[in-house]
Amino acid sequence: MKQIAVLGYGVVGSGVVEVLEKNSENIGRKAGDQLKVKYILVRRSFLGDPNEEKMVQDFNTIVNDPEVAVVVEAMGGIEPAFSYVKASLEQGKSVVTSNKELVAEKGAQLLGIAREHHVNFLFEASVGGGIPIIRPLHQCLAANEIDKIEGILNGTTNFILTKMIKEGMGFHQALSIAKELGYAESDPTADVEGLDACRKICILASIAYGKHIYPRYVHTEGITKLTGEDVEYAQEWGGVLKLIGQFIRREEGASILTAPRLVPLESQLATVDDVFNGILVQGDATGDVVFYGKGAGKLPTASAVVADVIDCAKRRDTVKTLYWEDCQENIVCDYMEEPVRAYLRFQGVPGRELVLETFQGCQELRRSQQPKTETALVTPMMKEKEIWEKIEFLKEKGACLLGMVRVLENN
Ligand code: HSE
Repeated sequence: MKQIAVLGYGVVGSGVVEVLEKNSENIGRKAGDQLKVKYILVRRSFLGDPNEEKMVQDFNTIVNDPEVAVVVEAMGGIEPAFSYVKASLEQGKSVVTSNKELVAEKGAQLLGIAREHHVNFLFEASVGGGIPIIRPLHQCLAANEIDKIEGILNGTTNFILTKMIKEGMGFHQALSIAKELGYAESDPTADVEGLDACRKICILASIAYGKHIYPRYVHTEGITKLTGEDVEYAQEWGGVLKLIGQFIRREEGASILTAPRLVPLESQLATVDDVFNGILVQGDATGDVVFYGKGAGKLPTASAVVADVIDCAKRRDTVKTLYWEDCQENIVCDYMEEPVRAYLRFQGVPGRELVLETFQGCQELRRSQQPKTETALVTPMMKEKEIWEKIEFLKEKGACLLGMVRVLENN
């Protein structure tokens, strides 16, 4: 029998305990041994909970127990999660986590420690919830150079955008439903301001690029500035608004951006709605491969965690393909130098003619009940810094920029 300890008993932790118990026979068969939850680390008491007798409040009970073979970290945040994960690996215990913040900040270091101690640090659930993406990326696609990854990586914001676009629901109402359904982070700012999606694309990009890419170097925008008017113009253009994490391999480094994008309806990502995530991976040998499924929620996430626990239980040594080097320097390309098309919405003087003249070759967009003082367009392809220079010029003439969303090119 293999003993498991679960750190945290929130949405993910309780889901992991539930799945391990509910499917124990099947899981035991696949793991080649029975898996049993011995401890659950909690901060407060859960009186009357069916798992109450397994609950402990002192991490030392877990780390000092030689019977514990696998530790599941489901606490979130950097500390104390990092110290607990590090100590567990150093004690020769494998660790499974769903904590994207931890992996995005400390992944290279923890993978290195796991390697030194011949154990595993696995984090399938940290990206895409229940969708298998980490293992396919480092194992099934191992023969490829990964040239591009782009995806809808945050279930909460995709849920909110879908409700806003399809049902005309307000932002705050949609967010509160996402919280009730267990999709949102404890502080949903990380969801709506794009940080969660940024951490996830950094994890995928680190696997693809072989070097740690830190979220602090990645330009990140959330969905809080998008309006119903932007949605209408997007429809008029023939697209939808989606929060996209994107990685492109360039000769000079990694091009990475997390931001809302105008996604053409022909893109496979355009129809990924609600809490679903969709991730397109472009390998030099495979071409495009698309992954799709529930990106958040108790049981989809628990499914990915438990699969990693099974993997840890079976393995005698560290998985060699899941590894990247640490790299403190900034290897992310300057997004201002990237060629891009963008949707822009202006209000006020100087008026339509000057706006259209400034962005020569642009495509003007119209919407119902458009005020005379409003001009919307999609620019031709140009460096992002040139777009901002033109915006600055128009601002000096009295125009006010109401919206800017980059187009996601469908190639
Ligand atoms: N808050 C995250 C999301 C949870 O909405 O995608 C899954 O990582």
